[in-house]
Amino acid sequence: MPELYEKMLRDIGHCDDYANRTIVLGEGNADSPTLVFVGEAPGATEEMQGRPFVGTAGRNLDEMLEALGCARSDIFITNLVKVRPVKRNQTTGRLSNRPPTRDEVAFFVPYLLEELALIRPKCVVTLGNFALTALVGSKDATIGRMHGKLIRAGFDLFPLYHPAAAIYNRKLREVMQEDILKLRNVLEEIYEA
Ligand code: URA
Repeated sequence: MPELYEKMLRDIGHCDDYANRTIVLGEGNADSPTLVFVGEAPGATEEMQGRPFVGTAGRNLDEMLEALGCARSDIFITNLVKVRPVKRNQTTGRLSNRPPTRDEVAFFVPYLLEELALIRPKCVVTLGNFALTALVGSKDATIGRMHGKLIRAGFDLFPLYHPAAAIYNRKLREVMQEDILKLRNVLEEIYEA
């Protein structure tokens, strides 16, 4: 892992778009944990602290982990894109988050695949659409159709809605809670964790 991350820091540092930007690496149990969670990209708080999921979405993720009976130290948490995607407001000059571009996703996917190959989790839990479509490699793999189900295709995948979805869409909360219970069952029955 450290070697991969050193290589990642070197490569990204050489890339004009990312030089001098904070690179938010993954953290947690990198030694074949049962679950690795993969988010979309860091936000402002993550960029400030250099750690994944430490802002508002992170608080929601912590609640999801508690419902699962997992501690952060049991699992590994990382992002598809490891630099905060930002846009600048032309009037105020302020930076705000934006979704990752296709180029950003294409740049970071190989690192994520290498990261997952090294960590060797039993199951990859994708959070939101970006991580899911990047790993399945198809735009047809949408979170609306695939959430809350164990997919066994080469490696095990369990798509969940992004924890930030509960902030913007309160109706999704119930669905997300049901999905967590389904994942908890998978943990107990399939992985015996
Ligand atoms: N959203 C993500 O997808 N990742 C983070 O690290 C924080 C918010």
